[in-house]
Amino acid sequence: MLDIKISNLLNDQINKELYSAYLYLYFSNYYEEQGLSGFANWYRIQAQEERDHAMLMRQYLLNNSEKVILKQIDEPKIELKKNIDALKAGLDHEKYVTELINNIYLVAYEIKDFRTMQFLDWFVKEQGEEETNADNLVKKMEMFGDDAKSLYLLDQELASRLYSAPSLVL
Ligand code: FEO
Repeated sequence: MLDIKISNLLNDQINKELYSAYLYLYFSNYYEEQGLSGFANWYRIQAQEERDHAMLMRQYLLNNSEKVILKQIDEPKIELKKNIDALKAGLDHEKYVTELINNIYLVAYEIKDFRTMQFLDWFVKEQGEEETNADNLVKKMEMFGDDAKSLYLLDQELASRLYSAPSLVL
């Protein structure tokens, strides 16, 4: 059994991760509409990873005999006008998720819930990687996005991203 504060925060986080999956699928749809199937692929896989994050939290709650509560997922409403908009919104979103994970970690630390801290260690590292990836995408688009040939090559690069299951197994 977990402290009620932790189980509530993790249940909320499941919802946030599923929203992240929704958001990235929305970005993927946008890039499909723009004819940038490599960008669409990148975000489709990103959406899959977010679903994995939610599933890991679900499993952690179940492993600790906690109830899993599935709440309503918000509709993504970010306005996308230029190719770079989703990338910038993605970076902002990852920074926000890092804050959420850090907050759960802080609460676990304050109540000496070492098991949850250990569980969250993987997410802390993952957030570092996700922020770096999102930041790199913004920088590449800023450098190459205005040149059609470079944008084509960047799209090709992102098309090569393959899904891999999370390294954390519960
Ligand atoms: Fe699940 Fe991209 O944070």
